[in-house]
Amino acid sequence: MAEVFIEGIAFDAMSQNNSAKRTVAAELTEDDLALDRSLRPKLLSDYMGQTRVKESLEVLIKASLERHDTLDHILFSGPPGLGKTTLATVVANELGSAIRTTSGPAIERTGDLAAILTNLEEGDVLFIDEIHRMNRMIEEVLYSAMEDYVLDIVVGKGPAARSIRLDIPHFTLIGATTRTGLLSGPLRDRFGIAYRLQYYTPEELGLIVMRSASILSVPITESGAVEIARRGRGTPRLANRLLKRVRDWAQVNGKDTIDKDVAAEALEFFEVDELGLDTIDNRILELLCKQFCGRPVGLTTLASALSEEPDTVEDVYEPYLMQQGLLVRTPKGRQATHSAFEHLGLSFHEKE
Ligand SMILES: Nc1ncnc2c1ncn2[C@@H]1O[C@H](COP(=O)(O)OP(=O)(O)OP(=O)(O)O)[C@@H](O)[C@H]1O
Ligand SMILES: [Mg+2]
Repeated sequence: MAEVFIEGIAFDAMSQNNSAKRTVAAELTEDDLALDRSLRPKLLSDYMGQTRVKESLEVLIKASLERHDTLDHILFSGPPGLGKTTLATVVANELGSAIRTTSGPAIERTGDLAAILTNLEEGDVLFIDEIHRMNRMIEEVLYSAMEDYVLDIVVGKGPAARSIRLDIPHFTLIGATTRTGLLSGPLRDRFGIAYRLQYYTPEELGLIVMRSASILSVPITESGAVEIARRGRGTPRLANRLLKRVRDWAQVNGKDTIDKDVAAEALEFFEVDELGLDTIDNRILELLCKQFCGRPVGLTTLASALSEEPDTVEDVYEPYLMQQGLLVRTPKGRQATHSAFEHLGLSFHEKE
């Protein structure tokens, strides 16, 4: 099994959690999900950014099609909204395969997984979202399925119990996780290919906004798209959502086209600041800079000051603040950087 690791997987750093509450990530409303679905690219050629991942996938898909062979199992990891689910569907489309979708928490018993696996057809893609949340006992059933396309199941109970082995169709498992660090070693090792998705550059996000605007028939100028992209936290889901809000604002305020000024004014109205930080991000920075005077603060202390779960702070808010160089993790706790003080318009005092 060929092992391809792109950009080395940072198993612990920048882990993210799907269940966390925030606009970028979870607690997705039906509207959000419908927007996601309507704007989801279908083929690699519509999928913007993540160039290295795309290039690598192109080669692997082509090779597997030419050999009439099943594609290796793939793991996609990275923060919410960067396009993991989208890529899974894109891969299936490019392979011309059907995709069956489930998620780690949805598979409650080994029997559920056995039913899914035995119902697959040759060459199908099985997509397991939030694969890190799969029960360990169930996960073990997956090992032989991934490795040898067989299912070992125990029939009967007590002394009469016996193990039988079933052949299952050759399939490609695509796993998605916001938290690679929580994936067990044996499961991780069974993926032949693993990619960590990166935050998008403003230019890439600008292209995504332009594409979404054309699908939604929203008149927009390039500089309008860039203005939205700049504040999209490197995240397509958020950029698309901001586009929708800006469209609403433009409509109510009688603006036909979204240009730079319209976008800026609308985003200001919705309190999305220059860096794409929202009220909670700014509250974190304010706490660190003002209340804690720039000193390192333990995660639990910070979380309780925010009335949030520590996991949510760690998985959802922190990664982008760290990526923007506004917050650092030190052995003593979380600390605001010089740039954070600047961002809030405060003067910076070096602290222990
Ligand atoms: N590369 C891309 N090009 C264009 N649009 C994209 C791209 N990546 C993601 N999107 C858009 O962003 C939306 C969110 O992406 P997706 O649902 O795949 O994210 P995810 O990584 O699976 O998030 P989660 O971790 O919350 O499940 C998609 O519906 C799609 O519209
Ligand atoms: Mg997803």
